[in-house]
Amino acid sequence: MRLDRFLSNSGYGSRRASKKVLRNFSVKVNGVVVSDYAMQIKGTDKIEVDGKVIPNLPYVTMIINKPSGYMCSMKDENYPSVMNLIPEEYRKRVRMVGRLDQDTTGLLILTDNGVLNARLAHPKHQVEKTYLAKVNHILRPTLVDLFNQEIDIGRGEIAKPAKLEIIDEYHAYVTVHEGKYHEIKRLFGHFSYDVVELKRVSFGTITLGDLKEGEIRLLSEEEYESLLQITGMKRIEQL
Ligand code: URA
Repeated sequence: MRLDRFLSNSGYGSRRASKKVLRNFSVKVNGVVVSDYAMQIKGTDKIEVDGKVIPNLPYVTMIINKPSGYMCSMKDENYPSVMNLIPEEYRKRVRMVGRLDQDTTGLLILTDNGVLNARLAHPKHQVEKTYLAKVNHILRPTLVDLFNQEIDIGRGEIAKPAKLEIIDEYHAYVTVHEGKYHEIKRLFGHFSYDVVELKRVSFGTITLGDLKEGEIRLLSEEEYESLLQITGMKRIEQL
């Protein structure tokens, strides 16, 4: 990772601000003063700013079970930002992968690996997302086939086929690969259903499991590797 990015990730502001840190403070890599902000640093390097050792952690990737009433924005707007729920030591480092609506709950991934983030969110990588939806009318079995084809979801957008698994009269799992704005609500809306509750239960290889609303956990090495794998990244790319 570049030194300016590392400083920025460690809470020294934007990449531009972190360059100022390099000009105005003594930054040492393995005991040697450096001013080259493009210098590549490795996970084993010891970084100091004005004598203070900055933890050189590998990338941080975590999940939260997002509660309803929080917005996926970087700061509070009409509702509090979900970032308020992220422990302070990680808050400046990580960014959300995609967004969930204010009233949607469930699995949200946060990472400071920008390449991984972009790949997970990009439709090209077709990362599967599964939601548990509760709707306002009885679900007809014929919907399974109807969801399994391209659907006009309005505003000139066509959603790719989705997998619908009906659980009971009002509940179903829906799996999509794209992540269009309000995709699940718009899919049901096409068939005159309102979604009254929505929870994301999985994202790619990661499942929510029994994480309670508002709880956060760091991904295990295996889970992180599995995300790199499904997005065609190699471990080496994070150095
Ligand atoms: N689809 C929606 O309609 N809302 C979400 O939050 C996520 C997917």
